[in-house]
Amino acid sequence: MILPHPNYDGNISVEKAIKSRRTVRSFSSRPLQLAHLSQLFFSAQGITEDGGFKRAAPSGGALYPLDVYAVVGKGAVEGLDPAVYHYISSSHKITTIATGDRRGLLAKAALHQMWMADAPVNFVITAEYARICSKYGQRGVRYAIIEAGHVGQNIFLQAEALGLKAGIVGAFNDREVIRVMEIPSEHEPLLVMPAGFSK
Ligand SMILES: Cc1cc2nc3c(=O)[nH]c(=O)nc-3n(C[C@H](O)[C@H](O)[C@H](O)COP(=O)(O)O)c2cc1C
Repeated sequence: MILPHPNYDGNISVEKAIKSRRTVRSFSSRPLQLAHLSQLFFSAQGITEDGGFKRAAPSGGALYPLDVYAVVGKGAVEGLDPAVYHYISSSHKITTIATGDRRGLLAKAALHQMWMADAPVNFVITAEYARICSKYGQRGVRYAIIEAGHVGQNIFLQAEALGLKAGIVGAFNDREVIRVMEIPSEHEPLLVMPAGFSK
Protein backbone atom coordinates (compact mmCIF):
# COMPACT_ATOMS: atom_id res chain seq x y z
CA MET A 1 0.00 0.00 0.00
CA ILE A 2 1.33 3.42 -0.97
CA LEU A 3 1.19 5.77 2.00
CA PRO A 4 -0.17 9.32 1.84
CA HIS A 5 2.44 11.82 0.70
CA PRO A 6 4.42 13.12 3.68
CA ASN A 7 4.01 16.67 4.88
CA TYR A 8 7.12 18.88 4.83
CA ASP A 9 5.72 21.53 7.14
CA GLY A 10 4.28 21.43 10.63
CA ASN A 11 2.89 23.60 13.40
CA ILE A 12 5.42 22.93 16.15
CA SER A 13 9.02 24.19 16.15
CA VAL A 14 11.83 21.71 16.58
CA GLU A 15 12.70 23.55 19.80
CA LYS A 16 9.21 22.95 21.20
CA ALA A 17 9.30 19.31 20.12
CA ILE A 18 12.64 18.81 21.90
CA LYS A 19 11.37 20.58 25.01
CA SER A 20 8.16 18.55 25.26
CA ARG A 21 9.47 15.11 24.25
CA ARG A 22 9.08 12.55 27.02
CA THR A 23 8.89 8.76 27.11
CA VAL A 24 5.19 7.99 27.44
CA ARG A 25 3.86 4.66 28.72
CA SER A 26 0.13 5.33 28.73
CA PHE A 27 -1.79 5.58 25.46
CA SER A 28 -5.37 6.35 24.49
CA SER A 29 -7.26 3.90 22.28
CA ARG A 30 -8.04 6.80 19.90
CA PRO A 31 -7.08 5.56 16.43
CA LEU A 32 -4.41 7.19 14.29
CA GLN A 33 -4.99 8.32 10.74
CA LEU A 34 -3.01 6.77 7.90
CA ALA A 35 -1.36 10.18 7.47
CA HIS A 36 0.06 9.90 11.00
CA LEU A 37 1.57 6.49 10.23
CA SER A 38 2.93 7.78 6.94
CA GLN A 39 4.56 10.79 8.57
CA LEU A 40 6.13 8.73 11.34
CA PHE A 41 7.60 6.23 8.86
CA PHE A 42 8.87 9.14 6.76
CA SER A 43 10.57 10.71 9.78
CA ALA A 44 12.24 7.37 10.51
CA GLN A 45 13.51 6.27 7.11
CA GLY A 46 11.82 8.34 4.39
CA ILE A 47 13.78 9.46 1.33
CA THR A 48 14.55 13.15 1.80
CA GLU A 49 16.86 13.72 -1.18
CA ASP A 50 15.07 14.98 -4.29
CA GLY A 51 15.62 12.34 -6.97
CA GLY A 52 18.10 10.51 -4.75
CA PHE A 53 18.23 7.79 -2.11
CA LYS A 54 19.38 9.49 1.08
CA ARG A 55 17.10 9.19 4.08
CA ALA A 56 15.77 11.19 7.03
CA ALA A 57 18.41 9.81 9.41
CA PRO A 58 22.18 9.75 8.76
CA SER A 59 23.84 6.42 7.93
CA GLY A 60 27.53 5.46 7.97
CA GLY A 61 28.62 5.24 4.33
CA ALA A 62 24.96 5.77 3.33
CA LEU A 63 24.62 1.98 3.53
CA TYR A 64 21.30 2.00 5.44
CA PRO A 65 21.46 -1.20 7.49
CA LEU A 66 18.15 -0.51 9.26
CA ASP A 67 14.56 -1.53 8.60
CA VAL A 68 11.48 -0.09 10.24
CA TYR A 69 8.38 -2.14 10.94
CA ALA A 70 5.05 -1.24 12.52
CA VAL A 71 3.00 -3.59 14.66
CA VAL A 72 -0.49 -2.17 14.16
CA GLY A 73 -3.41 -3.06 16.39
CA LYS A 74 -7.07 -3.77 15.58
CA GLY A 75 -8.92 -0.51 14.91
CA ALA A 76 -5.69 1.34 15.66
CA VAL A 77 -5.06 3.05 12.32
CA GLU A 78 -8.03 4.14 10.22
CA GLY A 79 -8.26 2.10 7.03
CA LEU A 80 -5.58 -0.40 8.03
CA ASP A 81 -6.00 -4.02 9.06
CA PRO A 82 -4.17 -5.16 12.19
CA ALA A 83 -0.84 -6.59 11.05
CA VAL A 84 2.92 -6.28 11.02
CA TYR A 85 3.94 -3.87 8.26
CA HIS A 86 7.35 -3.22 6.68
CA TYR A 87 8.24 0.26 5.44
CA ILE A 88 9.77 0.49 1.96
CA SER A 89 11.69 3.78 1.82
CA SER A 90 12.24 3.91 -1.94
CA SER A 91 8.51 3.94 -2.74
CA HIS A 92 7.11 5.25 0.58
CA LYS A 93 4.87 2.24 0.91
CA ILE A 94 4.18 -0.56 3.36
CA THR A 95 3.95 -4.27 2.79
CA THR A 96 2.25 -6.78 5.07
CA ILE A 97 4.58 -9.21 6.82
CA ALA A 98 2.13 -10.97 9.14
CA THR A 99 -1.58 -10.49 9.76
CA GLY A 100 -3.43 -9.97 13.05
CA ASP A 101 -3.06 -7.81 16.11
CA ARG A 102 0.29 -8.84 17.57
CA ARG A 103 0.74 -6.03 20.10
CA GLY A 104 0.07 -8.28 23.08
CA LEU A 105 2.60 -10.85 21.88
CA LEU A 106 5.14 -8.08 21.29
CA ALA A 107 4.57 -6.68 24.79
CA LYS A 108 5.08 -10.16 26.26
CA ALA A 109 8.31 -10.48 24.26
CA ALA A 110 9.35 -7.15 25.82
CA LEU A 111 9.51 -8.70 29.29
CA HIS A 112 5.76 -8.28 29.77
CA GLN A 113 5.70 -4.50 29.48
CA MET A 114 1.98 -4.80 28.78
CA TRP A 115 1.41 -1.03 28.53
CA MET A 116 2.94 -1.34 25.04
CA ALA A 117 -0.14 -3.25 23.84
CA ASP A 118 -2.33 -0.17 24.41
CA ALA A 119 -0.40 1.96 21.93
CA PRO A 120 -2.08 1.89 18.49
CA VAL A 121 1.26 1.29 16.82
CA ASN A 122 4.60 -0.12 17.92
CA PHE A 123 7.46 0.81 15.59
CA VAL A 124 10.30 -1.70 15.57
CA ILE A 125 13.74 -0.66 14.31
CA THR A 126 15.95 -3.54 13.23
CA ALA A 127 19.51 -3.81 11.91
CA GLU A 128 20.89 -6.14 9.28
CA TYR A 129 24.58 -5.82 10.15
CA ALA A 130 25.90 -7.49 7.01
CA ARG A 131 24.84 -4.47 4.97
CA ILE A 132 27.28 -2.21 6.80
CA CYS A 133 29.89 -4.66 8.16
CA SER A 134 30.78 -5.63 4.59
CA LYS A 135 32.46 -2.22 4.40
CA TYR A 136 33.39 -1.39 7.99
CA GLY A 137 33.92 -4.81 9.59
CA GLN A 138 32.88 -5.09 13.25
CA ARG A 139 32.75 -1.30 13.53
CA GLY A 140 29.67 -1.45 11.33
CA VAL A 141 27.73 -2.84 14.31
CA ARG A 142 28.51 0.35 16.23
CA TYR A 143 27.46 2.48 13.28
CA ALA A 144 24.14 0.66 12.89
CA ILE A 145 23.31 1.02 16.59
CA ILE A 146 24.15 4.74 16.51
CA GLU A 147 21.93 5.11 13.45
CA ALA A 148 19.02 3.48 15.28
CA GLY A 149 19.31 6.19 17.94
CA HIS A 150 18.91 8.85 15.27
CA VAL A 151 15.84 7.12 13.87
CA GLY A 152 14.38 6.84 17.37
CA GLN A 153 14.80 10.54 18.07
CA ASN A 154 13.25 11.42 14.71
CA ILE A 155 10.20 9.33 15.61
CA PHE A 156 10.00 11.00 19.03
CA LEU A 157 10.17 14.53 17.60
CA GLN A 158 7.83 13.77 14.72
CA ALA A 159 5.29 12.33 17.16
CA GLU A 160 5.45 15.58 19.14
CA ALA A 161 4.95 17.64 15.99
CA LEU A 162 1.83 15.59 15.17
CA GLY A 163 0.37 16.01 18.66
CA LEU A 164 1.17 12.38 19.43
CA LYS A 165 3.47 10.78 22.00
CA ALA A 166 5.97 7.95 21.81
CA GLY A 167 7.76 5.60 24.14
CA ILE A 168 11.02 3.71 23.74
CA VAL A 169 11.77 0.14 24.72
CA GLY A 170 15.08 -1.66 24.67
CA ALA A 171 14.20 -4.43 27.14
CA PHE A 172 13.01 -7.37 25.07
CA ASN A 173 13.94 -10.87 24.02
CA ASP A 174 15.39 -10.45 20.52
CA ARG A 175 14.46 -13.93 19.28
CA GLU A 176 10.92 -13.63 20.63
CA VAL A 177 10.41 -10.28 18.89
CA ILE A 178 11.59 -11.81 15.60
CA ARG A 179 9.32 -14.80 16.11
CA VAL A 180 6.12 -12.91 16.97
CA MET A 181 6.62 -10.43 14.11
CA GLU A 182 7.68 -13.12 11.60
CA ILE A 183 10.49 -10.88 10.33
CA PRO A 184 13.72 -12.23 8.80
CA SER A 185 16.00 -13.73 11.47
CA GLU A 186 18.91 -11.52 10.36
CA HIS A 187 16.90 -8.37 11.14
CA GLU A 188 18.02 -7.85 14.72
CA PRO A 189 15.58 -5.70 16.71
CA LEU A 190 17.28 -2.72 18.38
CA LEU A 191 14.41 -0.50 19.53
CA VAL A 192 10.66 -0.73 19.90
CA MET A 193 8.76 2.56 19.95
CA PRO A 194 5.08 2.53 20.94
CA ALA A 195 3.26 5.60 19.60
CA GLY A 196 -0.20 7.14 19.70
CA PHE A 197 -2.29 9.75 21.47
CA SER A 198 -1.45 9.95 25.13
CA LYS A 199 -4.18 9.25 27.72
C1 LIG B 1 18.04 2.44 24.73
C2 LIG B 1 16.87 2.72 25.64
C3 LIG B 1 16.13 1.67 26.15
C4 LIG B 1 15.00 1.91 26.94
N1 LIG B 1 14.23 0.85 27.34
C5 LIG B 1 13.09 1.08 28.03
C6 LIG B 1 12.22 -0.01 28.35
O1 LIG B 1 12.45 -1.16 28.01
N2 LIG B 1 11.09 0.29 29.02
C7 LIG B 1 10.75 1.55 29.38
O2 LIG B 1 9.69 1.73 29.99
N3 LIG B 1 11.55 2.61 29.09
C8 LIG B 1 12.72 2.40 28.42
N4 LIG B 1 13.52 3.46 28.06
C9 LIG B 1 13.10 4.83 28.40
C10 LIG B 1 13.89 5.45 29.54
O3 LIG B 1 13.47 4.93 30.76
C11 LIG B 1 13.67 6.98 29.47
O4 LIG B 1 14.21 7.46 28.24
C12 LIG B 1 14.32 7.70 30.63
O5 LIG B 1 13.64 7.43 31.84
C13 LIG B 1 14.36 9.22 30.41
O6 LIG B 1 13.02 9.71 30.25
P1 LIG B 1 12.55 10.50 28.95
O7 LIG B 1 12.77 9.63 27.75
O8 LIG B 1 11.10 10.78 29.21
O9 LIG B 1 13.36 11.74 28.87
C14 LIG B 1 14.65 3.24 27.28
C15 LIG B 1 15.42 4.30 26.79
C16 LIG B 1 16.50 4.05 25.96
C17 LIG B 1 17.27 5.22 25.39
